[in-house]
Amino acid sequence: MAHPIAAITATAGYVPEYVLKNKELEGMVATNDDWIQSRTGIQERRILKGIGKGTSDMGAEAVRQLLTKQSLQASDIDLLICATVTPDHPFPSTANIICDKVGIRNIGSFDISAACSGFVYALTVARQFIEAGNAQRIIVVGADKMSSIINYNDRATCVLFGDGAGAVLVEKSENGLGIVDSLLKSDGAGRQYLYQKAGGSAYPATQESVAAKEHFVYQDGRNVFKHAVNGMATISQEIMQRNQLQSTQIDWFVPHQANKRIIDMVAKRLDLSEQQLMLNIQQFGNTTAATIPLCLWQWENQLKKEDKLILTAFGGGFTWGAIYLKWAY
Ligand code: UT7
Repeated sequence: MAHPIAAITATAGYVPEYVLKNKELEGMVATNDDWIQSRTGIQERRILKGIGKGTSDMGAEAVRQLLTKQSLQASDIDLLICATVTPDHPFPSTANIICDKVGIRNIGSFDISAACSGFVYALTVARQFIEAGNAQRIIVVGADKMSSIINYNDRATCVLFGDGAGAVLVEKSENGLGIVDSLLKSDGAGRQYLYQKAGGSAYPATQESVAAKEHFVYQDGRNVFKHAVNGMATISQEIMQRNQLQSTQIDWFVPHQANKRIIDMVAKRLDLSEQQLMLNIQQFGNTTAATIPLCLWQWENQLKKEDKLILTAFGGGFTWGAIYLKWAY
């Protein structure tokens, strides 16, 4: 008997109310709207305000929305996975906290740390549980409060990132449509180009580490840019080739949203047109693990049953990945 196929059966999203526009950043660092828009494509991003508010608060909003939309009870869910690099705490996991906040109890829940590739990693893991018959209904969340690890005096990073959460429901496919293939890759030698140095076990927090601003994101932008273009283009080509998929057969290409120029270069390498791309970077900036599920949520009404989608991401680690799926509803 053929093994079960995993399919996304609903999407949800949440972005905080506060809109941080390029103009406001002009008053914080030596930058300008023109530079930000022309070098990154970003016009504004959302910021989660409020003492004690963390990634789980945004994730919980998206999960609540998903349950309501599908008329599901908390007890209908049998696994929750959260992709994030900005967990509320080093432990327990943000997935644990989201479950508690929405009233989901006594199920498996855990976080996945794969930076900007987090959602692609988490969806691939969820797929395995469905295919193995070990779960029936899984929620995959991609959520990050990037503003919590950004130095708003560093113009090289503070203009890029925003906060947000996306969530999808993953179930056993009823119609043969769903996730066809996925590919994950990593290369830890790339960690020097994009990371948060302090706050983990190698460099626990000290007064010195805080003073040196080592709890914020460090990025060698040019280097990451080069690897991101190559990583997403190559892995997308690989997954297309092994599924005999031509560029013209792809209905939607859903790339991680780090820089509009990266997306344009990847699209060019793959011979894709602007009409095939989902783009929300102008509105939300780089929301790390949330970019892809937020795109799926925003485009849900335009997606049609049997549409062919390629999701791809590249991020810290380095990590990268791609998923080929046929939209199931
Ligand atoms: O999501 C995870 C993966 N992350 C990515 O994929 C991000 C990859 N990198 C990038 O998107 C781009 O490298 C950046 C947007 C971060 C930077 O763009 P760039 O075209 O690579 O610029 P650059 O770093 O080469 O800097 C060019 C110039 C520099 O000035 P000089 O040295 O030429 O005088 C920078 O100091 O632009 C300057 N610069 C800025 N100027 C105004 C850097 N940031 C800013 C800024 N405003 N915010």
